Parts: sequence; structure tokens; C-alpha cells
Amino acid sequence: EKGGFDHFMLKEIHEQPKAYRDTMLGRVNDDGKGVHFSDLKLTAEQIRNIRNVQIIACGTAYHAGLVGRNIIEKLAHIPVETDVASEYRYRSPIVNKDTLVIVVSQSGETADTLAALREAQANGAHVIAITNVVGSSIARDADDVIATLAGPEIAVASTKAYTSQLIAFYLFGLYMAEIRGTQTTEEITRTLAAMDSLPEQVEKVLEMAPEIKEYAEHIAQHKHLFFIGRGVDYAVVQEGSLKLKEISYIHSEAYAAGELKHGTLALIEDGIPVIALATQEDVIEKTVSNIKEVKARGGEVMVVSYEENREDLLKSVDTVMTIPRTLPILSPALSVVVLQLLAYYASLALEHDVDKPRNLAKSVTVE
Ligand code: F6R
Repeated sequence: EKGGFDHFMLKEIHEQPKAYRDTMLGRVNDDGKGVHFSDLKLTAEQIRNIRNVQIIACGTAYHAGLVGRNIIEKLAHIPVETDVASEYRYRSPIVNKDTLVIVVSQSGETADTLAALREAQANGAHVIAITNVVGSSIARDADDVIATLAGPEIAVASTKAYTSQLIAFYLFGLYMAEIRGTQTTEEITRTLAAMDSLPEQVEKVLEMAPEIKEYAEHIAQHKHLFFIGRGVDYAVVQEGSLKLKEISYIHSEAYAAGELKHGTLALIEDGIPVIALATQEDVIEKTVSNIKEVKARGGEVMVVSYEENREDLLKSVDTVMTIPRTLPILSPALSVVVLQLLAYYASLALEHDVDKPRNLAKSVTVE
């Protein structure tokens, strides 16, 4: 049942290329120049009139929503807020018929996400559910469903569901961009072509397993570590930090790289591992200066970036890992796989129950 893998989590990490393809299938036009969602009730007219988007979810699905915010703002030029469902539902959110609400849930059964969906609907919002289970409560109650076709996810730590949620956000972002005229056909075509390469590129990241395992065995000797990044990299490190905590029980915190010096830098001391994501060329210099601040306090830095930056980065960091080149907005679909494998191998090194971490359940149906 684990298809030759030692754990469901590793099997599911390896199923990501297929999950990407399946989630894209039937939604990209044959000519590769656009996207269609033929089963959505949300009309083009509604899409043109949307004033703001609210993305609501819990845990890993919330982290997908943080990337989703970057995607929708960049592609469709609509203001987006992303919130955790247990906060949203109790904070009198400003939501009305011109708000598009997107709830994200692998299981479709998360109690807080379901309650937030109902709260939004009661205020007149149109609610789209991005979910992996089409017969779920959330899918039933939502006005529209965008199904992620990741297949059943058994490991408690979510991997392929998260990345399929990213694919759903890319597709839906492009769809709205086309209707709102915020991206040219050339830009949309280029992004779709780059998305087409993602499955093969994930295979390349999977081949990095030996070097990631070695680094994971090193960090497994530490009690605390930090993750930093900017832009979508910040969203991805939050997911990486959760994944690591969840299955390795190593304490970590994820920071926006520019926030470190506003307090957290006080915690950096000799030998503390700091994992940086630096895939966004427009802010890479800034991230490198944050890395230097960490190095100056004795921190030990590993950075995930592109091959072209390796030589330069090695002047300021201890370890560099490189992912295949893609468009800036698409990098989360590759960089997160490094962090998933890191969490997996750290958990393995510490001999924890990878698929069934302590205190956690796959589906959280109580608030
Ligand atoms: C972490 C994890 C959880 C879930 C969260 C929401 O790996 O799996 O954080 O993402 O409990 O679950 P769903 O997506 O089913 O609503």
C-alpha cells in the first residue's frame, strides 16, 4: 500500500509530479493560451466586479493561502487577505457580495474552516472551496468547488495536498487575470508553459534527497532553528517550519527576513541553524544582507536558491542547495519540496513516527 516507500509521507512527496499534472488536466486550454473552469457558477461579470478576496484556511492549507495571496495580487490585481479560520470567524470580518471568499481544505471537514465559510456566505459573499475531497461538508456547502486532484493523502503531514492547492491557485489566478485583463495572452501562455515543466522539475528536486538527508541529520542534532525568506519565500518557509515541527518535534520559527532584526536576532548565537529561501531575484540582495546579519552573530546558514547564484551565495553562507529555474511566482511549487524532504529526513533521523506524529489527527473536526 506504500508502493515500495517506507512511509506514506515519502510516497506522497513522490506523487507530487502526478498531482500537479492531474490538477492541471482539463483546465488548461488545448492551445496552452488560457485556462477554463467550465463548472464554476461564478460568472465573468462577478469576477470583474470583485473588490477584494479573502482566503481562509487552517494549518498547511492556510500556508497555501499565503502563497495564494501573492498569486492573486500579482496576476489579477485584486487586494487579498489570508486568515486562519479560527480567527476569521470570531473577528467580525468585513465581507459582502463583492468579496470573493476562497476556503482551502484538504479534507473538506475542518470545523473552523466550515464555520468561516458559513459566516462569509451569511454576509453575502460567494465562496469557492479548494478541496481534495469533493463529497466533503465544505465542498457541499460552498457555492463553487475547485477540486485538487492529489488523490487520498494518508500521512498526517500534508504534502501533495498543499502543492496541489498551489496549482489550483495558479490556475484560478490566471483565469481571473484573463477575465480582468490584468495579464496579456503572452504572459499567461508563458506562465502555463512554465507550469507544464513543474512536474519534471519536481523530479529533479526529489533527486536531491541524499544531500537533503545529510543536512537533515545535521539539524536533527539541534533543538532550535530559524527559517527566513521574503515574499513567496516567506510564505513557503512558514510551511517548512510547520512541517519540521510537526514530525521532527524540533522547534523552529519562520520569519520574514527583514523582520529578524526587530527582535528575533537576539536569539541567534553560535551554531544556530538558519535556513533561508532566496528564490526571488528582485529581493535577493536584501535577503543576502539579512543572511550576513545572521552570520555575524555566529548563525550557520543554509540557503535554497538557483544554480546561477551558488558562487555568490557561498561567499556568505555555509551550504547552498539549488532548485531548477522557474518563474518567480512558481518557485514555491519546487522550493517547498526541499523543505518537505528536510522535515521527513529529520523525523527519520530522530526515529519518530513520521506518518502519525504525536498529538495530531489527520482531520480536525472539532474547534
Ligand atoms: C499539517 C496539516 C494541517 C492541516 C490542517 C487543515 O501538515 O496537515 O495543518 O493542513 O489541519 O486541514 P484541512 O486542509 O483538511 O482543512
